[in-house]
Amino acid sequence: MTPGQAPREHVLVVNTGKPEAVTRLVRSFDVRCTVLTEEQYARLYPNHQSVVTVRRIEDTDLVVTAARRVHHDDPFLRVVAPTERSILPGAHVRRALCLEGLDVATAERFTDKLRMKEALRRAGLPTALFTSTHDQRAALAFLRASTQGCVLKPARGSGSIGAVRLGPGDDVPPCAWTSRMLLERVVPMEAELHSEGLVRNGVVEASRAYEYAEPVLGTEGRLSGSFPVDDERVRDVRVMHQRVVSALGFRRGTTHLQLFATRSGLVVNEIACRPPGGGIPEQVRRSGGFDVWKEFLAAELGRGEARGGDIETDAGGVTRVKLPLPRGRVTSVEGFEQLVSRDGIDGTVHFAVGDEPPAVIHSGAVGGLLFADAATWPPRDVFDLVSRTFRFRSDAEEAP
Ligand SMILES: Nc1ncnc2c1ncn2[C@@H]1O[C@H](COP(=O)(O)OP(=O)(O)O)[C@@H](O)[C@H]1O
Ligand SMILES: [Mg+2]
Repeated sequence: MTPGQAPREHVLVVNTGKPEAVTRLVRSFDVRCTVLTEEQYARLYPNHQSVVTVRRIEDTDLVVTAARRVHHDDPFLRVVAPTERSILPGAHVRRALCLEGLDVATAERFTDKLRMKEALRRAGLPTALFTSTHDQRAALAFLRASTQGCVLKPARGSGSIGAVRLGPGDDVPPCAWTSRMLLERVVPMEAELHSEGLVRNGVVEASRAYEYAEPVLGTEGRLSGSFPVDDERVRDVRVMHQRVVSALGFRRGTTHLQLFATRSGLVVNEIACRPPGGGIPEQVRRSGGFDVWKEFLAAELGRGEARGGDIETDAGGVTRVKLPLPRGRVTSVEGFEQLVSRDGIDGTVHFAVGDEPPAVIHSGAVGGLLFADAATWPPRDVFDLVSRTFRFRSDAEEAP
C-alpha cells in the first residue's frame, strides 16, 4: 500500500466449491478475501488468498468460532456466502458478529425446503402438496394415498442430489426416517421453468425466464439445458417471482426460481438466493440480461451500484445446452468443433482425452456448455443437432 491509499476492504467468504466467487471479488471489487471452507475445498483457493478450514461447513459453532478468530485478527464487515451449503453458516456468522446482510431466518427459508414451502403456503402460493417424513406413519400414508406418486427429497440440498421419485406402493428408502426430508406429491407438469431474478429493496427489478429442455429430475449427467420463454408465460413468471420473493421476505440479491408449468397455471417448486450452476449466469448474460455473479457479489458487499448490461431490454434469448458427462476416462471428443463452427453457436468443452468423470453427479455437473442464439436456432433443433453430433467416447463404453 502506498501512503495515502485506502487499505482494501477485508471480506470473509464462507464457501464450499465455488472459487469463482473469490476470483471475481478480487478482480471486480478490489477486496481482500479470507476464505472459510472445508479441507476438501482448500486446494481451490491457492496462493494469495488466506484460507481457514473447518471440518464441516454445516457445523455453525465451528464456523462461527473460526470466523470470530479471523475477525479478531483482521476485522471484516461483510460476509459473502455463495453456495447452497454456505448461505446458512454465513448468516450465523453475521448474527454472531452483528453484521449486515442476509439474516438467519431468511437464510433458513431459502435453504430448508420445509420452511420454504411452509412460508409459500402461508402466503397462498401454489406448491405441491407436501409433508415432512418426521412422522413415519403419516408420511407413508401420504405416499400410499398419492395416485401419481411422490418425490422424496432432502430438506437441505441442491442439484437433485438425493431426490427420488417413488410410486404410491414403493418402499421408502430408510434415509427418509433418519434425516430431515420431505415427500411431495408429483406435480403433473407440461414444462419445468427457471427464472433468474435481480432483487433490490424487495423488488424483482429484472428477471429472465427459461424452460428446461425436459424436467430436471433424472437428467443429471445427460444432455440437457434450457431455452428462453418468449410467450405470455413471461409475465406470469415475473409476477410469480415477485410473489415468492415477497413471501420469503427477501430484500436484496439474486434469485434462482424453479417453477412447474401445469395446465392450471404455475406451481412454485423452490428458490435459491445464490448464483446457480450449470452455465445459467452465462446464459443470462448472453441473453442481454444482468451479470448474475456481479449483482450477487455487489449485494453481499452492500454495494448497490453494480449493474451489468441493460436489464430491461429484450435483447433476444440464448439457449443453454449442457453437454453430457463422459461415462469413463475420455478416449475421444467428437463433434464439438463442428458445432461451434456454426454461426450463432459457441461454447466450451470441459473434458479432454484422459480426463475422468466427476465422482458426484448432480444437475449442475456438465461435460461442457454450448450457447445458441435462439433467434437463429429454434431451441428444439439445437438439442437434436447436439445429440446427433456430439459425444465423448470413453473406456467405459469400449470395455466388453
Ligand atoms: N413435486 C414434484 N413434482 C414433480 N417433480 C418434482 C417435484 N419436486 C421435485 N421434482 C423434480 O425433482 C427435481 C429436483 O427437486 P428440487 O426440489 O428442485 O431439489 P434440488 O434442490 O435438489 O434442486 C426438480 O427440478 C424436478 O424436476
Ligand atoms: Mg431444484
